[in-house]
Amino acid sequence: MNELIFHQLSKHYGKRCLFTELTLPLIAGQCLLLTGKNGAGKSTLMRILAGLDKPDQGEIQADGKRYSWRAYRPQLQRQILYLHQQPYLFEGSVWDNLAYALTRGLPRSEQHQQIEAIADWAGLTALLMNPAKRLSGGEAQRLAMARALLRKPRALLLDEPTANMDQAARLLTLEMLEDLKRQGLRLMVASHDPDWFQAVTNQHLAL
Ligand SMILES: Nc1ncnc2c1ncn2[C@@H]1O[C@H](COP(=O)(O)OP(=O)(O)O)[C@@H](O)[C@H]1O
Ligand SMILES: [Mg+2]
Repeated sequence: MNELIFHQLSKHYGKRCLFTELTLPLIAGQCLLLTGKNGAGKSTLMRILAGLDKPDQGEIQADGKRYSWRAYRPQLQRQILYLHQQPYLFEGSVWDNLAYALTRGLPRSEQHQQIEAIADWAGLTALLMNPAKRLSGGEAQRLAMARALLRKPRALLLDEPTANMDQAARLLTLEMLEDLKRQGLRLMVASHDPDWFQAVTNQHLAL
């Protein structure tokens, strides 16, 4: 039940094969660590899982049924969110960036409550009225995570999440990932610095 497994994923560019017939389960409450040197295909794989790039072939087994990647693509885009290492933030405040992710038509009090709760969780409460584009690397990444979570994804894919962070921000990110696992989210982290994520890793895939 509640399964989400990718089967036979393959992707090449020109003559170069990035991966072939890869099987990859995303398990609730677990974190899959994806490693591989620059250019190995980590970002491409994550973008395929999130329905952003096309694989050469691939199928998805979800909730007892099997779908082609193409047929399931709209669900992938809704359920699996990809976070770039340099998160794209909108003009406006941290609050605005969070409000944008909320479902339209929520009552105002409900909106406020959700934004305040997620800001508190991500350590952004004191920054809510600050311009999002002026955040530090760590703060921007936490805002991107908070914004993604407001969309209630089934899986969160983090591409080199700690690349622009100091030690304190990295530790905070690890704590947040642990907490998301406890909440039952599926996580995937791409990193060329795998030691950092050892403690939160359940499965390891090397490209
Ligand atoms: N749209 C594209 N067209 C052609 N080649 C691409 C494209 N996107 C990525 N690549 C190539 O695919 C390889 C994998 O890239 P990427 O997934 O970004 O690797 P990683 O994230 O592991 O560093 C690289 O050699 C890159 O140049
Ligand atoms: Mg990459």
